[in-house]
Amino acid sequence: MTESPTVFPVCIAGTGSYVPERILTNAELAARVDTSDEWIVTRTGIRERRIAAENEFTSHMATHAARKALEDAGLSAADLELIIVATITPDTPTPATACYVQQNIGASKAVAFDISAACSGFLYAMKMAKRLIASGAFNNAIVIGAEKLSHITNWEDRATCVLFGDGAGAAVLRRAQPGEGAVLATEMGTDGSLTHILNVPGGGTACPITAANVNNHLATLTMLGKEVFKHAVTRMKEAAEIVIERAGLKPEDIACVIPHQANQRIIDAIADRLAVPNDRVFMNLHKYGNTSAAAIAIALDEAHRTGAFKRGDHIVMVVFGAGLTWAAAAVRW
Ligand code: UT7
Repeated sequence: MTESPTVFPVCIAGTGSYVPERILTNAELAARVDTSDEWIVTRTGIRERRIAAENEFTSHMATHAARKALEDAGLSAADLELIIVATITPDTPTPATACYVQQNIGASKAVAFDISAACSGFLYAMKMAKRLIASGAFNNAIVIGAEKLSHITNWEDRATCVLFGDGAGAAVLRRAQPGEGAVLATEMGTDGSLTHILNVPGGGTACPITAANVNNHLATLTMLGKEVFKHAVTRMKEAAEIVIERAGLKPEDIACVIPHQANQRIIDAIADRLAVPNDRVFMNLHKYGNTSAAAIAIALDEAHRTGAFKRGDHIVMVVFGAGLTWAAAAVRW
């Protein structure tokens, strides 16, 4: 997908994130299914993940993250014009989770809708928001990645249940003033011939929710891990290279790469192939596991708040997920 000329430059003005209080450790999982802390850490890098309370919905987590991002950006909810929530675990099939967030934060002027692009959703949403602001249609937007993956996890399947967690992250985008940062380049891609390697088969029109389908775990995530791994490395490397080049940069110009937080081995492989030193690659998956659309948004917020990059630095975000989908963004902070 080619980049059309930007009319107005667009910056990331603030970020926020939220994770539930409850920590689920590898040791606890090992007491439930045939796995071990050693296997999970060696194969994935994950040590623990957060699990939302039963009465804590995706919109609640999204709302916490949104409030923090608005505060960081110094933007009042009343002035917010657009809310896009990326999620595969909405509160309800309809209305969109973004509508609940709009109500919760009091952004009565904002247009609100969801997008579904699995782990790539946050960067898909960011590209849409960027274009809508760059074109002059909106002055600002909040993009939120929020997931309650614990709700669609098969807790009897050791191959998947050790991987996922819950949480939310958000970023406020707005028209940039001269001298401010900018979202320089974005890239998105989809390969619908690979829908079968990572999906939730049930719960939609193809396989409606029935007691039998739920008992057969058809409403939970299934994955051909090795296949996904292979495509993740190839697609994320390509997407990152595209945005680096399109932004007029070289890998050595990148102060911080923020990759999708799915597996440390995938992240290491991408860092190697991009020739970016490991200390410039941000990782927090040991604490949260894979939180799908929320993962890169939480990582961006933590990287920003812990000083992994500073004003004027160039950062690259790159993601990959079910669909298959992938996306990347190069940003001057
Ligand atoms: O956000 C969406 C993107 N998702 C991803 O990026 C995930 C990509 N894939 C992966 O991260 C890895 O493929 C996994 C972490 C899911 C699996 O690692 P792997 O090195 O590909 O392992 P494997 O699936 O080939 O399984 C190796 C062995 C198998 O046993 P045998 O057949 O060798 O006897 C599995 O049954 O490990 C076994 N195994 C486990 N053992 C202990 C699978 N899961 C577990 C487990 N604990 N939790």
